[in-house]
Amino acid sequence: MNDNQYMRRRVARALQDAPLRRVLFVCLGNICRSPAAQGVMQAVVDARGESAAWLIDSAGTGDYHTGDLPDRRMRVHALRRGYELTHRARQVRESDFDDFDVIIPMDAANQRDLHRLAPTPESEAKIAPMALWIDIATRYDYVPDPYYEGAEGFELVLDLLENACANLCDDAGAPKITDRSKQ
Ligand code: 4NP
Repeated sequence: MNDNQYMRRRVARALQDAPLRRVLFVCLGNICRSPAAQGVMQAVVDARGESAAWLIDSAGTGDYHTGDLPDRRMRVHALRRGYELTHRARQVRESDFDDFDVIIPMDAANQRDLHRLAPTPESEAKIAPMALWIDIATRYDYVPDPYYEGAEGFELVLDLLENACANLCDDAGAPKITDRSKQ
């Protein structure tokens, strides 16, 4: 088993047994990639009738956009696929390492910043990059920042996130608690 498979299995185990699966997606600004990941993941678990088993949030390593809705371009592209993004940006805080089971950075810079912020080795062990779950496009071992890109950049992010979120949900397996009203 390589390092990535090992890390993926470790996350799967942490989520499989959790009474509530608490997942935090992290990018730089918390206005493009991570709120989109949050919206896509929420849609995946809702569609599978698993809403009651998951707590999904997002945050940014930077604080430039605190309180803002996601970038308008991200909201438009996401809405075309049926995801309404209403998250308000916030910065990652140390307590997130207690409040979440898995913390998922979008790229290597986000990952480095999270390692710096993690208060304990146990907290650091919760950090797992989003690329672990990407298997449609092997040239991406990160989710690229679309902020300075055109429409293609936003569509690429959504393609990668849909792929990764479905795989992450598969890995976690059927939860012990399900929202039967959605089934
Ligand atoms: P995100 O994209 O990290 O996916 O939210 C960015 C948003 C804003 C900035 C950079 C990246 N910015 O420099 O303001």
